[in-house]
Amino acid sequence: MAPNHSRVPAITLTLLALSTGSLGQKKVTNEFTDPATGIVLQRFFGAKSGYGFGIALPTNPTNSFIGQLTFPLNNGAGWGGWSLTGDMEGPLLMAAWSDGTSVVSSFRQAANEKDNPPEVAGNFSVKPIAKGTSVNNTFLTYTFLCEGCLGAQLGLDPNAAGTGKGVEMGWALSDKPVQNPGSSAGVLAFHNIGEGGFKADLTLAKRPEFDTWAALAGPPVAGAAGAKPFDTTKGGSGGDSGDEDSDDEDSGDESDDDD
Ligand code: HEM
Ligand SMILES: *[C@@H]1O[C@H](CO)[C@@H](O)[C@H](O)[C@H]1NC(C)=O
Ligand SMILES: *[C@@H]1O[C@H](CO)[C@@H](O)[C@H](O)[C@H]1NC(C)=O
Repeated sequence: MAPNHSRVPAITLTLLALSTGSLGQKKVTNEFTDPATGIVLQRFFGAKSGYGFGIALPTNPTNSFIGQLTFPLNNGAGWGGWSLTGDMEGPLLMAAWSDGTSVVSSFRQAANEKDNPPEVAGNFSVKPIAKGTSVNNTFLTYTFLCEGCLGAQLGLDPNAAGTGKGVEMGWALSDKPVQNPGSSAGVLAFHNIGEGGFKADLTLAKRPEFDTWAALAGPPVAGAAGAKPFDTTKGGSGGDSGDEDSDDEDSGDESDDDD
């Protein structure tokens, strides 16, 4: 049993380090204070892509959260989005982009990884926080209250989720133009800049100031006519296709750090 035994662990450890991406670069959220609103978020930031998503919850989580998307635009073009799980197929997704003047956002649900995920409607709505929302040709910041956006059937139940940096969420970023960008049903091109999972710390995302910050939100955004009902039978963790290790498949942000 002894021959060469000592070499195997070294190789195994090397492969393990590579396959888990644990080369000192963790895709996790950390505390971030939005300078425009003072809202304190747990934020994932991809240093390579420039994509950011932050989340804040009430001390006693409900089905709502405050979210913030920040990402670069390519001469006004592109879109960024979040997923309630590390997957694309099944859970509630949101994408946001610029129509040239303002931020347009849209709830989506993907049935596959081939087609533009259609716009969906359900017992959830988004209320933009104008003070924390801005867009120009090179950068988009979208701060919002997402009401009714959390729950087991949507993909993430904050009261059943793990503690610490243990809750898998997902991100995606494209720098290609959205077709028909003035409509929330606009057609999204593949997220060519990158996509993947990150670990959100929903314990530290709980903030006593949540209700004060939520009161900054304006009226809900109406979706486009023709939005499909969200399919709650596909949105829960049952819809996850065993992708707990989706970090391995990340693209576009291999060099992310955790700032
Ligand atoms: C035309 C639109 C889209 C296309 C063609 C598309 C296609 C794909 C493909 C092919 C993958 C697998 C990549 C891999 O194996 O590494 C993927 C993954 C992913 N996509 Fe999309 N996607 C689209 C829109 C979206 C949107 C709108 C979101 C979120 C707002 C999203 C979020 C994700 C996430 C988080 C992953 C990683 C997890 C996984 O592999 O399932 N995608 N997408
Ligand atoms: C666009 O907005 C970003 C973020 O607010 C800012 O850093 C940048 O200077 C702006 N660009 C222009 C040309 O105003
Ligand atoms: C729908 O959302 C509202 C507001 O967040 C919540 O009070 C209600 O319980 C939700 N209903 C269902 C069926 O999830």
